[in-house]
Amino acid sequence: MSTLRQRLRGPGASQAWIAVAIVTVAYVAVVVDRLQDLPDAFRGFGFHPQVLLHASWSTQVHLLAGFVAMALGVLQLRAPKGTPRHRALGYAWATVMLALCGSALAMKQHVGLLQILAVIVIGLLGKAVWHARRHEVAQHAHLMRVLVLGATLAVGLFTAVPGRISWQLFFAGSPATAAGR
Ligand code: HEM
Repeated sequence: MSTLRQRLRGPGASQAWIAVAIVTVAYVAVVVDRLQDLPDAFRGFGFHPQVLLHASWSTQVHLLAGFVAMALGVLQLRAPKGTPRHRALGYAWATVMLALCGSALAMKQHVGLLQILAVIVIGLLGKAVWHARRHEVAQHAHLMRVLVLGATLAVGLFTAVPGRISWQLFFAGSPATAAGR
């Protein structure tokens, strides 16, 4: 399974670079937009774990599951495939992803794009495990790349913006808005 680094160097590198550039520009645009409302957002750089203590249980579970899913997902993409360790790490990652999506559904009592994404990701997780159990390696590998790079790294990046808890963890000058975001 090719890693992002291999894709950025090998065949199809231009598409991979375009995707990285689009995500980077979009992320910078979102941060700049948020800075209009929260001009002090870069103040108070450090580690402020106390913001997690004031969050709801579903937000705490979601944030922790998000960080663990990103770390395990990247590790899994880079590690040798088909080994007992790959299988164990895969089931651990899928369990963490279920906690991530379950907590996402519990966080807000409304249906929005992210709630729909949570349901879609649960379905794709099941499909990825099904392909793995049937030894359909190419399909399994493709879905895993989509889930790790898209559903964890890209989605996680866009939650790390001024006003959100993952930003407040590192910048004390970015208070949550009255609505919590
Ligand atoms: C399957 C992927 C994911 C889904 C479906 C998802 C879904 C959600 C949902 C539904 C919310 C509530 C937002 C709202 O309704 O306004 C949310 C918020 C949030 N998510 Fe995720 N998320 C995902 C991945 C991640 C990852 C990987 C992280 C990284 C740690 C993350 C961190 C956060 C944070 C920090 C918030 C905002 C909490 C706050 O400031 O109140 N999410 N997410």
